[in-house]
Amino acid sequence: MNKVKEEKEFPYISNVGVGIPDKVIANEELEQIVDTSDEWITSRTGIKNRHVLKEEEDPSSLGVTASKEAISGAPADKSDIDLVITATNISDMPIPGSSPFITRELGFSDDIPFFDLKAGCSGFLYAIDVAINMIRGDGYDDVLIIGLEALSRVVNWEDRSTCVLFGDAAGAAVVSSGGTTGKVLSSSIKGDPTKAELIRLEGGGTRLPPAEGNEANGRYYLEMEGKGVFKSAVNMMKRSSLDVIEDAGIELSDVDWIVPHQANIRIIKQLAKSLDVRMDRVVVNLDEYANTSTATIPLALKEAVDEERIQSGDLVLLTAFGAGAAYGATLLEW
Ligand code: COA
Repeated sequence: MNKVKEEKEFPYISNVGVGIPDKVIANEELEQIVDTSDEWITSRTGIKNRHVLKEEEDPSSLGVTASKEAISGAPADKSDIDLVITATNISDMPIPGSSPFITRELGFSDDIPFFDLKAGCSGFLYAIDVAINMIRGDGYDDVLIIGLEALSRVVNWEDRSTCVLFGDAAGAAVVSSGGTTGKVLSSSIKGDPTKAELIRLEGGGTRLPPAEGNEANGRYYLEMEGKGVFKSAVNMMKRSSLDVIEDAGIELSDVDWIVPHQANIRIIKQLAKSLDVRMDRVVVNLDEYANTSTATIPLALKEAVDEERIQSGDLVLLTAFGAGAAYGATLLEW
């Protein structure tokens, strides 16, 4: 647990931006591609649409759009940004990742440090945790964090059990040593490596190198054990939520909004039930975007802020789980 010590300044998440592809695939269109139905997808997952990149679009372009919006509304100027972290499951290229492309396109100086961070769908919360520690310990002041995902490029569009679940998007935020919104009261990141293979994409790594793709095509797609993921997701998000609440010395009833990772409405409802929280305190937008992995939390957070559901002073709990199995939670005072 990363306790934000009283004697140190609380870092702030000063602004959130998003990048969302224009192209939308509705459940009805998927009925033409695989043996599925709008009724099945809606009742099992809550998803109606997903936004996906067109063939000619680069995933990092979503990160650039999200970053520009995040920086434009932040107290920090672009020239103040001293570190860029891109959380992504699968980057533009295995080498050198996505961060160099995003930072180059944003026009940062040629000495800005950057790196990609891989922590499954919990990547955005891991990036917050890393950023606040870099600020508190290493003298950084304004860290641009990005959750970037283009899973439409790696799902098997012939596998109905996975292709209906995911969408593409990016979310970004500037984490700063000072600010007025999104004060980070507590952050917790954890992992359960016994569940390392629950969600996986085997091909393209060093165990199954890219050059062998032709011989093992099926293993170059995202795979998962749906039921196992479902069960672990609820337990992990509950555990990390309770961690940050205890760490901040508050009660669950003090929390105004929960913004959970958006994977499946049934997982979210189960989480709310297990925490004894009413669903009208939970932000949900997966019907429109499906599971955009590291981007779901910034997308949902921004939507709730823009619609003025989340208001200044509200306590907001973010919680996520994903491949690894990495999970975590962040408690903010908006
Ligand atoms: N359309 C129609 N039928 C489908 C389908 C689809 N898109 N996908 C699967 N099915 C079928 C299965 O083949 C199975 O058929 P069978 O009984 O003839 O074998 C049946 O539906 C039931 O499948 P099951 O796996 O039991 O469904 P489920 O209720 O567990 O729901 C998930 C499946 C994937 C929606 C659910 O397990 C889930 O959401 N898990 C979490 C996944 C997740 O969030 N992953 C990302 C983590 S970050």
